[in-house]
Amino acid sequence: MKATTMTSSDEKDIDEVSGVDTTGHEWDGIKELNNPLPRWWLILFYVTVFWSVVYWVFMPSWPGISGHLKGTRNHSERENVELALDELQAFRAENAQRLLSARSLSDIEQDPQLLQFAMASGASAFGDNCATCHGVGGGGFRGYPNLNDDVWLWGGTLDDIKQTIRYGIRSEHPEARMSIMPAFGEQGILSNAQISDMVHYVEHLAGRDADMEAVARIEPVYQAQCSACHGASGVGDRAQGAPNLTDAEWLFGDDRAAIRDTIYYARNAVMPHWNERLDEPTIAALSVYVHTLGGGE
Ligand code: HEC
Ligand code: HEC
Repeated sequence: MKATTMTSSDEKDIDEVSGVDTTGHEWDGIKELNNPLPRWWLILFYVTVFWSVVYWVFMPSWPGISGHLKGTRNHSERENVELALDELQAFRAENAQRLLSARSLSDIEQDPQLLQFAMASGASAFGDNCATCHGVGGGGFRGYPNLNDDVWLWGGTLDDIKQTIRYGIRSEHPEARMSIMPAFGEQGILSNAQISDMVHYVEHLAGRDADMEAVARIEPVYQAQCSACHGASGVGDRAQGAPNLTDAEWLFGDDRAAIRDTIYYARNAVMPHWNERLDEPTIAALSVYVHTLGGGE
């Protein structure tokens, strides 16, 4: 590429085709025309230059040796963020205090503003601590109860829920909710034949088709071994976290193999305790959150 520059100020080089003055720059025979900048563009340019000067006066701008130019407004985004954070913390502390001093959990649910706060902080604490086991939104999985429905192992009042969260179920905490279903097969309490009959019995309790001879055979064993927890008619007992066996809800699966495994090995699922990991306001918020998920009593 060849670039030639013709710089002679007195001698104007007019482009023949457009009739416009050229800058005198030429590349491979292509000349640069000297069109003036559009007026609107120029005006905008001068306005921005003017605006930058106004900005220097009022707002923080140039860096200096000992800090930057502060500007007459003394504006600081960092301070604004700190102020906003302080406000948020004060708001949280105030509401946490109100959660703590509410006479009962149901007082919280009656105060719309406090309820809203509890729901928001409960939902976020649930996502952080509980969703791994109970699912996002509390839908549950096999072995991990659904917290949205009105089927409760240990009870669905606000205070029941709070106690469960605080101390856990079969957790290491001395106040934990406790009951141990024996492993009837593993511990040799029932024979394999009895366990097979017992599966029919459980299916019969749930209103499904079952071998009625097996049901009749095992009835006395059920009354002797199971009724203390699951009730004579199988409706369960919340004081012991023993599920209702007559409904269509199954915590550990509804197929015959799952029912057999439950009776043979027992499950005795563990729910951790939270009273040492979460503070009181968070536990209160979580209780309210779980209570309002759908099945609260
Ligand atoms: C490591 C898994 C795990 C985590 C984490 C967990 N849970 Fe549980 N949770 C369980 C299991 C398992 C049960 C059922 C225990 C049983 O069989 O009795 C349960 C039971 C419950 C119950 C009782 C339900 C009923 O029907 O009575 C509530 C309420 C509950 N969890 C709430 C929570 C909350 C709130 C959190 C978070 C702070 C949480 N859980 C975290 C495993 C977990
Ligand atoms: C000491 C109390 C206790 C006794 C006795 C007991 N259970 Fe249970 N059972 C429970 C508890 C508590 C659970 C659920 C919690 C867990 O295991 O995590 C349960 C769960 C079950 C389940 C699972 C239900 C579901 O929703 O998946 C079946 C089925 C069952 N038991 C049958 C029996 C049978 C049959 C017997 C007698 C041979 C029996 N249980 C004796 C306490 C007991």
